[in-house]
Amino acid sequence: MPLSLFQLAILISATLIALVAAAAPDLDPTKNSGRPDQRPPPPPPSTPRLKCKCQPNQPCWPTPSTWATFNATVSGRLIATTPVARPCYRPSYNATACAAVQQGYHYETWRQQQPGAFQYTNWELGPNGQGCLLNRSSTGSCDQGAVPVYTVKAATVDDVQATVRFAHQHNLKLVVKNTGHDLLGRSTAVGSLSLWVFFMKKIQVVDAFVPEGAPIPSEENTTTKGVGAVVLEAGVVWMDAYKAVDEHNRTVSGGGAQTVGTSGGFCQSGGHGPLSPSLGLCVDNVLQYKVVTADGALRVVNAYQHADLFWAMRGGGPGFGVVVEAVYRTHPAVTMSYFQVMVSSEDRSLLAKVLRELYARQIEWSNAGWAGYATVNRNYVALAYMRPNSDVASARKTFGPLVAYARGLGNLTLEQEIYSDFPSYYALFLNMTSLVPEINAGFGSTLGSRLIPRTIFETDQGVDKLANTMLQVQDESPPSTDRYAIVSVAGGAVARGSSKETSLHPAWRKALVLVLVVGGWEESLSWKDQLKLQRTLTKATDKLRAITPGSGTYLNEADPNEPNFKQSFYGPNYKTLKGIKNKYDPKGLFVCRLCVGSDDWNRDEMCPRHH
Ligand SMILES: Cc1cc2nc3c(=O)[nH]c(=O)nc-3n(C[C@H](O)[C@H](O)[C@H](O)COP(=O)(O)OP(=O)(O)OC[C@H]3O[C@@H](n4cnc5c(N)ncnc54)[C@H](O)[C@@H]3O)c2cc1C
Ligand SMILES: *[C@@H]1O[C@H](CO)[C@@H](O)[C@H](O)[C@H]1NC(C)=O
Ligand SMILES: *[C@@H]1O[C@H](CO)[C@@H](O)[C@H](O)[C@H]1NC(C)=O
Ligand SMILES: *[C@@H]1O[C@H](CO)[C@@H](O)[C@H](O)[C@H]1NC(C)=O
Ligand SMILES: *[C@@H]1O[C@H](CO)[C@@H](O)[C@H](O)[C@H]1NC(C)=O
Ligand SMILES: *[C@@H]1O[C@H](CO)[C@@H](O)[C@H](O)[C@H]1NC(C)=O
Ligand SMILES: *[C@@H]1O[C@H](CO)[C@@H](O)[C@H](O)[C@H]1NC(C)=O
Ligand SMILES: *[C@@H]1O[C@H](CO)[C@@H](O)[C@H](O)[C@H]1NC(C)=O
Repeated sequence: MPLSLFQLAILISATLIALVAAAAPDLDPTKNSGRPDQRPPPPPPSTPRLKCKCQPNQPCWPTPSTWATFNATVSGRLIATTPVARPCYRPSYNATACAAVQQGYHYETWRQQQPGAFQYTNWELGPNGQGCLLNRSSTGSCDQGAVPVYTVKAATVDDVQATVRFAHQHNLKLVVKNTGHDLLGRSTAVGSLSLWVFFMKKIQVVDAFVPEGAPIPSEENTTTKGVGAVVLEAGVVWMDAYKAVDEHNRTVSGGGAQTVGTSGGFCQSGGHGPLSPSLGLCVDNVLQYKVVTADGALRVVNAYQHADLFWAMRGGGPGFGVVVEAVYRTHPAVTMSYFQVMVSSEDRSLLAKVLRELYARQIEWSNAGWAGYATVNRNYVALAYMRPNSDVASARKTFGPLVAYARGLGNLTLEQEIYSDFPSYYALFLNMTSLVPEINAGFGSTLGSRLIPRTIFETDQGVDKLANTMLQVQDESPPSTDRYAIVSVAGGAVARGSSKETSLHPAWRKALVLVLVVGGWEESLSWKDQLKLQRTLTKATDKLRAITPGSGTYLNEADPNEPNFKQSFYGPNYKTLKGIKNKYDPKGLFVCRLCVGSDDWNRDEMCPRHH
C-alpha cells in the first residue's frame, strides 16, 4: 500500500514546483561581485587521530549519574530514546500507546515529532536488519536497532553547545537530526546520541542584511550595503519560511517539499526547488551560517569569517558542524504560473514516445524559464511545471505542443490538464498542500539518481540514448521500483552559479535535470530481500551512470550504495573538502554515512579504517 504513496511523496513533494530569469535586476544570484575568493588553498595534509566511538555497554559509556548531570546542563531536555513501536511489543506492551503509534505511523508530520522515528523506517534498522518496526514480525522483542540511545531536544544554542561538548568529551557517536527526512540515513546511527534541532523555530525577515565582519560600506563601494534576507533557526521547515517571507512580499529559493528543513542537510548539499532555475540553488543564496563546531565553539561563518568553512558548507554536505542559524538571500515577490497534465496508457511504446518528446523539449522549456517535475511509471507520465512572473497564455505556448503531440498518438488518456496562475509562490504552495498525501512515510526507501548534462539534450542521438536508457533502467529495476522522476530544477541560474564560490559538485552547473529512480517497500519485507532490492536498483542505475561519464549526482537524493561516492557526490572538490573537514573536526565527531571524511572510517562509521 504505501508504495504508491511514497512515489507521490517524493514526486509530488517534488511535484512541486519553477522560473524565468525574469529580467528583474536583483534576480541574478551570480551578480554579487566583489566578494573575496572563498575557495581556500588546499590545506596541508593532516593526520587526524581517530579512534573508535564509545558504545553502550562499554566501560567508557557515561554512567547514569553522568547522564543525569548532563541532563541538567541541557535543562532536562535529555530523552532516553526508544523505537516508536516499542509499546506494541512485550514487555512494554500498552494497548493505548500502541494504538496511537499505529495511527500516526505513516504520517510524515507525526514522525517528525518523535525522537525515535525517521521518515523511512529502513534507517531505524541496525546493520543486520535488527530493529523494532510496527510491522516487522520479529520474535516479539523490540531491539533498539539504529534508533539513538539518547536524544537532546535542543531549544537553545547553549543546548547545542553543551551536547557537542559532551559528545566530544565522552567520544560518543553524535548524530544531528532535524526532520529525519534523510535518504542516506545520516540523521541516525546505532548507539548514538541525537542532537535534535527541530524545535528551534525562530524566523526573521530582514530588509538589509550585512554579513558579520563585512567591511563598512563606503561611497565608492556599496558591496556590503545589505540585501534582503531571511534568518532561519535550525528547525524551520520550508513551508514556514515561505509563509514568513510572503508576509513581507518577498520570496526565497527553497525546496519543492514543504516539510523538509531549511537550514541543515538541505542547503549544505545544494538545495533545489521550483525557483532554482531563476534564483539559484540554496547554496547560491546563503549569506551566513552560525555553526557550532566540534570544539563546541559558536562560529559566524560567511564570506568574511571562516570563509573556508563557508565554502565547504555550500555543497559539501553535512558533517562540518551544527548549523544553528542560516541566513538566505530573499528576492522580490513573484507570481507563479503552473501547468500539469497526466498522460496514461497501457501501451508502453506510446508512453515511450511521449517521454522521448518530453526529453527533446527540455532545453526549450528550460530556456523559457520553466522548472518542474515529471513522474514516470509503466502506465503514466505526470507533469507539473512552474515558472515565475509568467501567465497561462505563455504556459499554453510552451506546453501545448507536447499535449497536442500526445493527443495525436491516440489510444492514451490525457487527464487533469491544468493551466493556472497564482498571485505568489506561497499561494502556489498553499494550493499544492491539498495534493501532497499526508500518508507518505513509515516504510522503506532507496534511490538511484544522476545529474544529466545539458549536452545530452542538445542532439537527437543524445535524446534517444537517454530515452532508451531510461526504458532499460525501468526494465531492470525491481518491480516495486520501476518509477522515476525527471526533476527539471537545473539550468538557468543554476548553470550560471559559481563553481568557485561554492563547493557544490560542478556537474550541477552543467546539468539540465536530475533523474531520480525511486524504490520503496513495505517494512515487512525481509532484510535479505531489502538488500537484494537495493543491489538491483544500484545495478539498474549503472546504465545511467554509463551514459553520463564525469557527471555526478545530488547527494541528498542519492543511492546509499552509490559506487564511487566521492566522485559522484563531491567531484573534484573532495580533497579540499576533506582538508577543511579535518581542520574543523579533526576527530570526526560529526562523521556520517557517505559524508566527507567517511572514507577514513569503517562502513558503520564506528571505528577508523585499519583499526
Ligand atoms: C519527501 C522528500 C522530498 C524532498 N524534496 C526535496 C526538494 O524538493 N529539494 C531538495 O533539494 N531536496 C529534497 N529532498 C532531500 C532533502 O534535501 C534531504 O532529505 C535533506 O537531507 C533533508 O534535510 P532535513 O534537515 O530536513 O532532514 P534530516 O534527516 O533531519 O537531516 C538530514 C541531514 O542533515 C543533517 N542536519 C540536519 N540538521 C542539521 C543542522 N542544523 N546542522 C548540521 N547538520 C544538520 C543531518 O545530520 C543529516 O545528515 C527531499 C527528501 C524527501 C524525503
Ligand atoms: C568592495 O569591497 C569588497 C569587500 O571587501 C571587495 O572585495 C571589493 O574588491 C571592493 N570593491 C571595490 C570596487 O573597491
Ligand atoms: C532529564 O530531566 C528531565 C527533567 O527533570 C526528566 O523529565 C527526564 O526524564 C530526564 N531524562 C533522562 C534521560 O533521565
Ligand atoms: C499506556 O499509555 C498511555 C498513553 O501513552 C499512558 O497514558 C498510560 O500511562 C500507559 N499505561 C501504562 C500502564 O504504562
Ligand atoms: C502491516 O502489514 C499488513 C500486511 O502487509 C498491512 O495490511 C498493514 O496495513 C500494515 N500495517 C501498517 C501499520 O503498516
Ligand atoms: C510586492 O512585490 C512585487 C515585486 O517586487 C511588487 O510588484 C508589488 O507591487 C509588491 N506588492 C506590495 C503589496 O507591496
Ligand atoms: C489501445 O490499447 C489497448 C490496451 O493496450 C489495446 O487493447 C487496444 O487494442 C489499443 N487500440 C488501438 C486502436 O491500438
Ligand atoms: C488550486 O488551484 C486550482 C486551479 O486554480 C483550483 O481549481 C483549486 O480550487 C485550488 N485548490 C485549492 C485548495 O486552493
